[in-house]
Amino acid sequence: MNAVPDVSPAGTAGSSLAALNAWVAEVAALTRPDAIHWCDGSDAENAALVAGMEADGTLIRLNHETHPGSWLHRSDPNDVARVEHLTFVCTPERDDAGPNNHWMSPADAHAKIDALFDGCMQGRTMYVIPYCMGPIDSPLSRCGVEITDSPYVVANMRIMTRMGAPALARIEREGRFVKGLHSTGELDPERRFIMHFPEELTIKSYGSGYGGNALLGKKCHALRIASHQARNEGWLAEHMLILGVTNPRGETHYIAAAFPSACGKTNLAMLIPPEGYRKDGWKISTIGDDICWMRPGKDGRLYAINPEAGFFGVAPGTSRKSNPSALASIQSNTIFTNVGVTADNQPWWEGLGEGEPAIDWRGEPYDAGKRPAAHPNARFTVSARQCPSWSPEAENPEGVPISAIVFGGRRPSLVPLVFEARDWTHGVLVGAAMGSETTAAATGAVGVMRRDPMAMKPFCGYNFADYFAHWLSFDDGSNRLPKIFHVNWFRKGDGGDFLWPGFGDNLRVLEWMIGRVKGEAGAVETPIGNLPTAGDLNLDGLELTGEAREKLFGFEREGWKAEFDSIGEYLDSYGPRMPRALKDEQQRIARA
Ligand code: GDP
Ligand code: PGA
Ligand code: MN
Repeated sequence: MNAVPDVSPAGTAGSSLAALNAWVAEVAALTRPDAIHWCDGSDAENAALVAGMEADGTLIRLNHETHPGSWLHRSDPNDVARVEHLTFVCTPERDDAGPNNHWMSPADAHAKIDALFDGCMQGRTMYVIPYCMGPIDSPLSRCGVEITDSPYVVANMRIMTRMGAPALARIEREGRFVKGLHSTGELDPERRFIMHFPEELTIKSYGSGYGGNALLGKKCHALRIASHQARNEGWLAEHMLILGVTNPRGETHYIAAAFPSACGKTNLAMLIPPEGYRKDGWKISTIGDDICWMRPGKDGRLYAINPEAGFFGVAPGTSRKSNPSALASIQSNTIFTNVGVTADNQPWWEGLGEGEPAIDWRGEPYDAGKRPAAHPNARFTVSARQCPSWSPEAENPEGVPISAIVFGGRRPSLVPLVFEARDWTHGVLVGAAMGSETTAAATGAVGVMRRDPMAMKPFCGYNFADYFAHWLSFDDGSNRLPKIFHVNWFRKGDGGDFLWPGFGDNLRVLEWMIGRVKGEAGAVETPIGNLPTAGDLNLDGLELTGEAREKLFGFEREGWKAEFDSIGEYLDSYGPRMPRALKDEQQRIARA
């Protein structure tokens, strides 16, 4: 059956859904699906999709006594992470995409990928997924529609976004939405592209079923397309978690933090306070773990929403000890991708710290000598509401006011535990100069240092030079903007061990930041910013070696000289488009 079925159960001709219906018809004519399904987001719809995926092996039933409603998906072994070298930003002018992006002209890109989409859904069902990024009634939220031939994508989008009827109603009201077209295709890495057309508010993704490549609401829409929209409309779309820190006096401060993929966003967002802090009444509440949309409110402060509704978190390393909230979140109604399983069919991964693997992520008997049980980038997809620290403020249409912005990465050497930027411009430079070791979240080598400004290297939908200028433009002199900090949880000693305990103990650093925001905590000035001394931070109950104290709280003048030369070269590599103010700031510090 290749005739295109009726494509317009949504709205009537002439309604503001006419554009959507026309696009769906156009896509159906190109991809030639057997059937078209408009997703309403209902439980019944999800149950039917899951049953179909169980029947065809896309989903494997986990132990529903221990993990009710949870499923395992084994991806193609060649399709386990984002593919940055196959991800393109297709602006009419190459310079608008910038050296930070792979570029193709829109005409070439459409031609190349449409040839792959031609007839690709024959024998498959095409799903139309209306979704809203952000609380359904928030002025900061934006809608999109993803067309996909993957029921696994539908099931994940249902968890990660507000999907279905309410989103469609908002699209009908607003008449605008981001168009995302996705097919898993043949899963052939040679026939795989993730293309973005910011001017057309369009995404086309072919040949991958992996989260960041296929759940188009996430990195493709909420970061690459949204960063472009945000620039035009005066807001910020950032790769940041958002958490609330409530102190014993009952005051809550919200903090947004940008770390590269697999550098601790999910963990920080769900932090469990150390024993002493808990006794004193400190509390953490989770708004988001990956993406943050912010805009100035009437009072000049930045207000933030989490555009997502779920977590797509890294499983390996998640344990009762390291992240009890994440582990509690994923006891039910969770989709696991590329984890191992125990003999009694419970999900298992390296660092879980309990149980034994029997089958690895490829579905073969576990053999420690052959491969890990879970792929290092194995993931869980779960509704944010299942997190014990989930904050109802995540549904606040106005967003939450941000007191501090934090940048950070994996820096085994040089970079101290924390420092504070002197002002907004310096803070933008701190973000622009961020570096981190690469991780398993993207294909390619792991553990290689690269510049990853504001953790947006893979996600900024336009030229970084223009992006930094956009950031700088928020400084209106009112001093109501968040303070900016840099952290490094990953500093190593000469022995190769992490010097900072991290995880729950990171609250000690957040406490210092809030103290700085309120003008209560001490610091020493250095060329790179304001550093706490070991005495300015609450280190009660920690046993830090002399080496740890020196490296976590010290300023290494010689090393930083070299670092600032390298930052200067990096800024220069963007040519005259790089904002003068940022170069001036770099020069001032380099000469200090
Ligand atoms: P995300 O992808 O940025 O959300 O990163 P995750 O929170 O999932 O963490 C990625 C990896 O970093 C996991 O293996 C964590 O165990 C590890 N990690 C997270 N926070 C810390 C920390 O404070 N210290 C150390 N040493 N490792 C951490
Ligand atoms: P993350 O993103 O690695 O920042 O958690 C997941 C993804 O690749 O989509
Ligand atoms: Mn994460």
